[in-house]
Amino acid sequence: MADLLKDPVMSPQQFAKLATIIYERSGIHFPENKKYVLESRLGRRLQELEVDDYDQYISFLSVGPYRDDEFQEMFNKITINETSFFRNEPQLDVFEKQFLGRLLESRGTSKRLRMWSAACSTGEEPLTLAMQIHRTLGLRLMDWRVEVLGTDISERALAVAAEGKYADYAVRSTSPLIKQKYFKQDGPYWTVDPAIRQMVHFETLNLKDRLGAKRLGKFDVIFCRNVMIYFDDAMRAQVINMFHDQLADDGVLFIGHSESLRGLNVPFEQVNIPQGFVYVKKGHAKEAAPNMTVGGGLPQTPPSGTSATSTTPASLTPRKVA
Ligand SMILES: C[S@@+](CC[C@H](N)C(=O)[O-])C[C@H]1O[C@@H](n2cnc3c(N)ncnc32)[C@H](O)[C@@H]1O
Repeated sequence: MADLLKDPVMSPQQFAKLATIIYERSGIHFPENKKYVLESRLGRRLQELEVDDYDQYISFLSVGPYRDDEFQEMFNKITINETSFFRNEPQLDVFEKQFLGRLLESRGTSKRLRMWSAACSTGEEPLTLAMQIHRTLGLRLMDWRVEVLGTDISERALAVAAEGKYADYAVRSTSPLIKQKYFKQDGPYWTVDPAIRQMVHFETLNLKDRLGAKRLGKFDVIFCRNVMIYFDDAMRAQVINMFHDQLADDGVLFIGHSESLRGLNVPFEQVNIPQGFVYVKKGHAKEAAPNMTVGGGLPQTPPSGTSATSTTPASLTPRKVA
């Protein structure tokens, strides 16, 4: 029993097997130098299960009636769910001020707008997008069918999202004005206004699940931020190609400030807007980003307080699209 209180040791072979299983199921890539991360996150899980070595845990994950449930438990332990409302506000401003108006104008007949926050963790990102649409449309929202979908692999994260009740930490980058307008404060908790909450739906989706993504239909805007850093190039390309299929031709894709599609063979090009980290489909820049240049050219400055670098090689010449 005393032994169960100590985290079991993971051998290099056990690490290799687990890293392969995790990669095959989710695309999350654990390089060898991250063995200690996996060991520290899974140690507690083995204790909970009263399993005292990794070989036993690997069998439990690979065969038997509970393997799918255990995958979910494991993802809950190994994924990083860090997020917040209005995370990277300069980029959100680019979306709201430079793209949202044009999209609403072009959807003026159908009055339908669909947005997808892929890998949304506990829901702050899609709820933020709903707030931006709400304040942009104002009373006109009544005439519109706006859907914001938040998906994530972690059911535990989505359970928090479904509740719509957040601790102070989640609103650390939210202005007092927005807090007043869209939240109700209850002691240390912040509950999202039901008008915003009802604009957003949450679903479990593994970004590896191409068929599952197809079922979601087409979107006008896709946000996928701060998850591709955990993927290798093959998985990144797979996910970006899937987004290509699910995005309207004049739609836009926003990625995280420390992520880049450079070097990947994918049918997107970057719009040259500092802080934008925004991409449009190749061959469709004229509709998706009118009067903007694409193809690289402007250095991207990461938000202050981050160390990410994302500069564009001088050899890439920007191209004006309209
Ligand atoms: C750091 S959070 C990013 C949240 C939000 N997009 C943001 O930028 O604030 C990363 C999320 O990616 C999710 N994730 C990791 N691998 C995934 C996969 N294969 N499919 C879907 N979601 C995944 C994790 O569960 C986690 O909630």
